[in-house]
Amino acid sequence: MTDRVVVAGAVFDEGRLLAARRSAPPELAGRWELPGGKLEPGETAEQALVRELREELGVEAEPGERIPGEWPLAPGYVLQVWTVRIVSGEPRPLEDHDELRWLFRHELDTVDWLDQDRPAVAEAACRLPVG
Ligand code: CDP
Repeated sequence: MTDRVVVAGAVFDEGRLLAARRSAPPELAGRWELPGGKLEPGETAEQALVRELREELGVEAEPGERIPGEWPLAPGYVLQVWTVRIVSGEPRPLEDHDELRWLFRHELDTVDWLDQDRPAVAEAACRLPVG
């Protein structure tokens, strides 16, 4: 059986990456992730990402390039990550998160990322200005 895809966004703005702190479920609460969620049937990854970022953050987003790689989550799920630009709106933690932070490259290890997000965050870091 093919794995179900969870798509997440490496959201960039002004040389920073957006980090979101999960508020649920209890075993993930307090850990930081790239915001996103599961593909619904019939959706492309880009469509799912736009929908998830609208629901979770209240922004209109434009996916850019896929960050190479695919990372295992719970059995049956894999994580894919796209770069994202915000087209309109200011991100707010509306759903699934209780705090958001914009991080410069040198600040990326100041939050406790979910283990499965770390390789994607490292890839995203390569796309941030040094400093
Ligand atoms: O919002 P939806 O229910 O579609 O998805 P979610 O609960 O946000 O994410 C589905 C699963 O993917 C959860 O187990 C998350 O922990 C995981 N996930 C992740 O590991 N890394 C991310 N950047 C986003 C989600």
